[in-house]
Amino acid sequence: SKGDHPYYMIKEILEQPDAVEFTLGERENIQRIVDDLGDIKNICFVACGTSYHASLTGKYLLQHLAKIKTDVVLASEFKYTADTLDKDTLVVFISQSGETLDSMNALRIAKETSPTLAIVNNIGSSMTEEAKYTIITQAGPEKGVAATKTYIAQLTAIYLFAGLLANDEKLINELYNVPGYIREVLKKSSEIEVLSKRYSFADDLFYLGRGFSYPIALEGALKLKEISLIHAEGYASGELKHGPLALINHKIPVIVILPPGSDYEDTMVNLEEVKARKAIILSICAEGDAKAECKSRDVFTVNSKVSETIAPLVYTVPLQLLAYYVTLEKVA
Ligand code: M6R
Repeated sequence: SKGDHPYYMIKEILEQPDAVEFTLGERENIQRIVDDLGDIKNICFVACGTSYHASLTGKYLLQHLAKIKTDVVLASEFKYTADTLDKDTLVVFISQSGETLDSMNALRIAKETSPTLAIVNNIGSSMTEEAKYTIITQAGPEKGVAATKTYIAQLTAIYLFAGLLANDEKLINELYNVPGYIREVLKKSSEIEVLSKRYSFADDLFYLGRGFSYPIALEGALKLKEISLIHAEGYASGELKHGPLALINHKIPVIVILPPGSDYEDTMVNLEEVKARKAIILSICAEGDAKAECKSRDVFTVNSKVSETIAPLVYTVPLQLLAYYVTLEKVA
């Protein structure tokens, strides 16, 4: 039940620290899969919607940490990839429900040639029956239409998988701090509630991020579109100048995802580009980031220990809250 919460979406957003903790409990199962896989040359993710955004993060992680060439394919576009699969390519299906038809159809084709792994939240769903390997994300049932806690749980499973594949102890250890970082964000949700009053007027918003923050931008925009029915675009921040910058003006809020790390300075250049066009800037950045504070109209800050590599697990949460509170503001 929703308990004391008015909507499932907020209840499920608040359950995210537990979703991460419980999914970290899958570590031994994931280690067994990694051991059994042996020498995998390529990985191909197949998914839709929010699960596609989790897959994009997976690609960056696997290429960056494990140096495994990784593709990400929308399940509905899968037929143009199917013929290139082989036995050395692990095909990974990400799905909350484990039932999405396009992904199921792709899985039935992929398993003819390749080892398959399904990362799903639903025990006993069709994908768990068809895939060679299964990882269950431990988010518990998700009733809200917007995928929130299952997304963070998918990411947790993907980070564990990539960390174990790459033997990256440091990354794996850092995952155990994520529930705490998310709790810190949730404690400040009233700040997002206040901000939502300043942004709910908009007809169009842009979300910008680079590297690991690019899928965060896509997911933030998708959540806002789906729930508030406001038009939003997620963009790779370096791509904005190749056309859409022309749309930016003093009426357009731009949400900039700015975690500390190697992409920070380049994203800051992009922030300055939209600032020059008088955009209304809300930066999601680290505590104590004076530069972002001085260049943005508003900021929401996250623990400065959250680096860009693990930012998707934490920086997504304020964007979910923003979508939720902007929607409440609009219907009020
Ligand atoms: O169950 P799945 O993860 O396969 O569903 C895929 C998409 O339909 C889903 O992620 C959708 O985009 C979300 N409900 C968006 O919040």
